[in-house]
Amino acid sequence: MFKNQLLGLSSNSHLISKNIFRNLATVADKPVVLKTFKIYRWSPDTPQIKPQLKTYQIDLNQCGPMILDALLKIKNEQDATLTFRRSCREGICGSCAMNIEGRNTLACLCRINKDPKKETKIYPLPHMFVVRDLVPDLTHFYKQYKSIQPYLQKKKEIPEDGKENLQSISDRKKLDGLYECILCACCSTSCPSYWWNQQEYLGPAVLMQAYRWLIDSRDEATLVRKQMLQNSMSLYRCHTILNCTRTCPKGLNPGKAIAEIKKTLSFD
Ligand code: SF4
Ligand code: SF4
Ligand code: FES
Repeated sequence: MFKNQLLGLSSNSHLISKNIFRNLATVADKPVVLKTFKIYRWSPDTPQIKPQLKTYQIDLNQCGPMILDALLKIKNEQDATLTFRRSCREGICGSCAMNIEGRNTLACLCRINKDPKKETKIYPLPHMFVVRDLVPDLTHFYKQYKSIQPYLQKKKEIPEDGKENLQSISDRKKLDGLYECILCACCSTSCPSYWWNQQEYLGPAVLMQAYRWLIDSRDEATLVRKQMLQNSMSLYRCHTILNCTRTCPKGLNPGKAIAEIKKTLSFD
């Protein structure tokens, strides 16, 4: 105790370091549980080599619980060339979206299937051009997002009284379930209509944001927003299959938002 005080350590930090060593010892004592991951690999640097699934094995007892933990472990310890996007590691940035065991989701929110007998296959988001390995090219997706003008539009920029753009509590509530979208593109890339008509059909993610701005009580561009959707391709390629809603890792309902836009336009 006296020695710790001389070193500037409290008895608390002594306890903490003791616990850390105990935990490290426990991890080291655990049996090896090897899990196989098959991961899609393709590099633009070697275009003559076709895309392939590469096999990696990691010990689940030396790895965090999420798929993103496994990918980071593989990249750090086995293959530094493995390429994927990630940033927040908590389902906020949307960058780690990929197809895991047949489902579009976020690697940081997806738990590793602990059954060592089952291989886990990981692909990039489907039906998109691939930049490299698990990184899809989202250029067109972002262009479509930009096309719906996803920002507040007022006839006069600054309210005359110089105050904020006020909104009633009930009008604000209408945006719940819409504004939380992190634009991960899991829904759009699970939509068969988007797969086949992606050049013209806006897809569920972008349409949900179009709806978010359509029903914002403060926005004054409603008419233009509706006109932009009144054609046979931008909106009406949705056939209410609802893959989008089933796959959304944030639990949102883009399928419903699209149905609401159709309802709104049908009354015009
Ligand atoms: S409901 Fe519409 S947007 Fe969603 S998956 Fe089906 S066709 Fe695509
Ligand atoms: S609606 Fe869900 S799946 Fe689609 S982009 Fe937003 S967060 Fe991702
Ligand atoms: S790393 Fe940000 S959502 Fe997964």
